[in-house]
Amino acid sequence: MSDTIKQMISADEIDKRLREIAQEVKEEFVGEELILVGVLKGAIVLMTDLARKLDLDVEFDFIEVSSYGNATETSGVIKINKDLKHSITGKNVLLIEDIIDTGLTLNSLRNHLLAQNPAKLKICVLLDKPDRREVEGIVPDYTGFTIPDKFVVGYGLDYAQKYRHLPYIGEVILNS
Ligand code: IMP
Ligand code: MG
Repeated sequence: MSDTIKQMISADEIDKRLREIAQEVKEEFVGEELILVGVLKGAIVLMTDLARKLDLDVEFDFIEVSSYGNATETSGVIKINKDLKHSITGKNVLLIEDIIDTGLTLNSLRNHLLAQNPAKLKICVLLDKPDRREVEGIVPDYTGFTIPDKFVVGYGLDYAQKYRHLPYIGEVILNS
């Protein structure tokens, strides 16, 4: 690795927080079916770890968007590269994303999913960077950790497609 990664949130802290979130999700959807919709690729690690903590009748689906930006900045224009495989009309949905930054991605995704009239739509993110918010009124129902305005990687999050596999969240210190 050519960049320095400074650990911000440990694997143990993530595991502990996910247990708490899983408990809240279970209470919300007990006795009901739930479709987990992961936003590729960043949400993969969170989704698979959270799913295994949910003692519920769940199904998986995925959506992939791109935001016409470079590695660290998003442009606000969202394009859907891969849409859901199955209908969510009348279904309970938990939209799972790695991080909410400006809020543009989740806001567009929420509107896109609501157009299909799900029974219930809840949003779960691992990380929230509230200092960067540009869209008002988009508040995740479940948030792992609120972090300062630093560029982070690991646990699904990438820098130019690297570091998604790290089991912890770390801040990228660019060595240029
Ligand atoms: P938003 O649309 O500005 O909320 O951006 C959300 C997307 O930007 C996330 O899905 C990530 O792909 C990316 N992103 C924002 N902040 C970070 C970060 O610190 N590390 C890695 N990706 C990030
Ligand atoms: Mg992403």
